Amino acid sequence: MSSSDDQHRIDPATGAPAPATGSASAARTRVKRQLPTVRDLAPLMQFRKPSLPGRRQRLEQALTIWDLRDIAARRTPKAAFDYTEGAAEAEISLARARQAFEDIEFTPAILRDVSRVDTSREVLGAPVSYPFGIAPTGFTRMMQTEGERAGARAAGRAGIPFSLSTMGTTAIEDVRDANPHGRNWFQLYMWKDREKSMALVSRAQQAGFDTLLVTVDVPVAGARLRDKRNGFSIPPQLSARTVVNAIPRPWWWFDFLTTEPLAFASLDRWSGTVGELLDHMFDPTVTYEDLAWIRDQWQGKVVVKGVQSLADAKRLADLGVDGITLSNHGGRQLDRAPVPFHLLPSVVKEVGGDTEVHLDTGIMSGADIVAAVALGAKFTMVGRAYLYGLMAGGEAGVDRMIQIVSEQIERTMRLLGVASLDELEPGHVTQLQRLQPIPRV
Ligand SMILES: Cc1cc2nc3c(=O)[nH]c(=O)nc-3n(C[C@H](O)[C@H](O)[C@H](O)COP(=O)(O)O)c2cc1C
Repeated sequence: MSSSDDQHRIDPATGAPAPATGSASAARTRVKRQLPTVRDLAPLMQFRKPSLPGRRQRLEQALTIWDLRDIAARRTPKAAFDYTEGAAEAEISLARARQAFEDIEFTPAILRDVSRVDTSREVLGAPVSYPFGIAPTGFTRMMQTEGERAGARAAGRAGIPFSLSTMGTTAIEDVRDANPHGRNWFQLYMWKDREKSMALVSRAQQAGFDTLLVTVDVPVAGARLRDKRNGFSIPPQLSARTVVNAIPRPWWWFDFLTTEPLAFASLDRWSGTVGELLDHMFDPTVTYEDLAWIRDQWQGKVVVKGVQSLADAKRLADLGVDGITLSNHGGRQLDRAPVPFHLLPSVVKEVGGDTEVHLDTGIMSGADIVAAVALGAKFTMVGRAYLYGLMAGGEAGVDRMIQIVSEQIERTMRLLGVASLDELEPGHVTQLQRLQPIPRV
């Protein structure tokens, strides 16, 4: 400090200019110290009763889906975790889809009454409490033994739909029993053996599933390189490596070894990778004609999952399906696939009138869902977010996932100044450009 600064110092006692000292330390404020009394300290000492880190406490500490993911990674054997977390080839499709959600800017409106927000809407002819549901995932009991039952129960409790995969590890009827009053959707992969595929469809119909999701982005399996590198097979084999990996994850192994054996509920037993199973079972010849035929077999709503271009979206709308899901299968099929969130505005503009446009891939927060709804998505689905919750804490973990995402939706809506989903509109979201296509000449 210069001596000219000293000249402007004020004496705190008198309020008058302090005499210049020429030394900064001499003029420093003197703090008077005293010893604290017990009465002073008592209000500050609010120690919580120590407790063992149980499931509830573990889950309460997770504030985001990424936190749930970290807990899941600690509790699940590497091969099973990688099967869930991984995507195809260099995993670019998934990274880009997540990046697209990060690359948005919200434009809030101010001074609106947002004391109450309504997050419900009608989707495919029936109500949902939030604009997201649980995506179909194969082999779910391998991630955590409570598997699909946990997902279906948690979804039913929250008033959101649960989707069961053709590759599920819980029978159609058991999912119905786990979620008897909620909405269950069945996801169909068309097999080479069509009779068997359609037998599943009619079982789902009988069990009261209200929607058929026909997945169309798996003519062959994507290259899931993590599974190959891990030597991952179904069911998991006990090799020296898996045993070593099991040491810090005893509960997963305890569950695995002491609960009903892990198997596909709708498929014959299989020993090999999931990719090999897909290639063996599933039919690469399925076309639009087959889809029309499948649609006619089902009495409920039909949604085509895995739509990745405007041209296909239009063709499906012409075919009269009830909905389409813009999805690249969570990046697990074609790598460098279109980002569903980028496709959304043009697809909504062209077909969004009569056909519901749904979206998945890359959703890791309620704010992502709000952005998708603002750009016209009627509904969204979460795959990994659900599985991270499941791996982190079974059914309670799925409850926690739904709680985190739904609170994020409500808070984002309030901060944007909207009180209902229908008030969200494209003006609330600017997509910042990162991957801009170069126009064709
Ligand atoms: C472990 C795993 C298994 C999956 N299995 C299926 C499946 O059997 N059928 C299907 O249509 N989609 C399946 N998917 C894709 C999901 O339904 C959904 O499209 C995808 O997970 C969405 O991306 P997200 O994980 O980023 O939310 C699977 C996804 C994961 C992560």
